[in-house]
Amino acid sequence: MHTSLIIKGKEVSREIKSIVIQSPLAGVTDKIFRKFIRRWAPESLLFTEMVNATSLNLGYGVEKINQISNEEGPVGIQLFDNRPNSVADAAKESESSGAYIIDINMGCPVKKIAKKGGGSALLKDPSLAVELVKRISRAVNIPVSVKTRIGWSDKDKNIKEFLLRLQDAGANMFTIHGRTREQGFNGKADWKFIRELKEELEIPVIANGDIFNVKDAIECLKITKADGIMIGRGVLGSPWIIGEIDSALKGLKNFKKPTTEEKLHLIIEHIDELIFEKGEHGLLLARKHIAWTCKEFDGAQNLRKNLVKAKSAKEAKDEILLMISSLKDKS
Ligand SMILES: Cc1cc2nc3c(=O)[nH]c(=O)nc-3n(C[C@H](O)[C@H](O)[C@H](O)COP(=O)(O)O)c2cc1C
Repeated sequence: MHTSLIIKGKEVSREIKSIVIQSPLAGVTDKIFRKFIRRWAPESLLFTEMVNATSLNLGYGVEKINQISNEEGPVGIQLFDNRPNSVADAAKESESSGAYIIDINMGCPVKKIAKKGGGSALLKDPSLAVELVKRISRAVNIPVSVKTRIGWSDKDKNIKEFLLRLQDAGANMFTIHGRTREQGFNGKADWKFIRELKEELEIPVIANGDIFNVKDAIECLKITKADGIMIGRGVLGSPWIIGEIDSALKGLKNFKKPTTEEKLHLIIEHIDELIFEKGEHGLLLARKHIAWTCKEFDGAQNLRKNLVKAKSAKEAKDEILLMISSLKDKS
């Protein structure tokens, strides 16, 4: 099995020494969470949350692209919009900020985004999608990828033609989530269909959808014959999963999954980082991460309940420290 990925760009090509990629996840994969993921996955390509190109040009969300310049390892910036000029300008700005690759979101089903003609709405407007790819490819030298789904609906699966047109327009890589837009997250990701698409395409194809562990990753690669895999929901509460899968695919035996105690210390670190960045509001932002990480050990449910009620970061951290000492007492 191959363990690295080459993505050719117009002037600059990228070789990534891992075929396991972290999905862009809005509201999750900010710089703090990426720092945790990177701890276990030094070689993988990580993505920012999606960034609206027009807003960026108006000065909003600039920090989301600027902050990657201080990060270790390859980080891609995902843009969404339906205005070719805006996306081309935002792509140039992202390239200057040190983006390893630019990804265009053509799969997001969220109404707020699709209503404005971005994300999955582009599946319904292939000419505009082609125009976007052409303009971005002209604007930057680094690789340009597209992340999409396998079509709008079961009845409307024009995706093969769509991808071929985008490939001709200059796309350098595709990530394909094996569900239609209409499916949302229902049903199972269709890995066999991803393979059919892969066979038609010349550029690298990354398979996405329903990969939660090493076994899924191996199975997905076997079925899709994809050049890489992308993990989304699997990282929620488990920032080590990208590194864990990457190590397994590379046949490395020394990967150390964090113990319960280490996971609890990670939550404290996460709270501290969020409080440092956002003030006390950081505790609210930390809650979803706490709920995702705080599981699969005795007392996890109780701890989760207490943490939701905690009125300050100190109260929350004291609860966690109490749990850590009770775990120590038991062992
Ligand atoms: C909380 C959340 C946020 C997401 N945000 C984005 C996003 O910003 N851009 C994007 O292309 N996909 C986004 N997605 C979709 C994922 O990147 C991924 O394609 C999808 O979850 C399927 O992969 P999975 O089965 O590994 O989760 C999001 C999904 C979730 C659950």
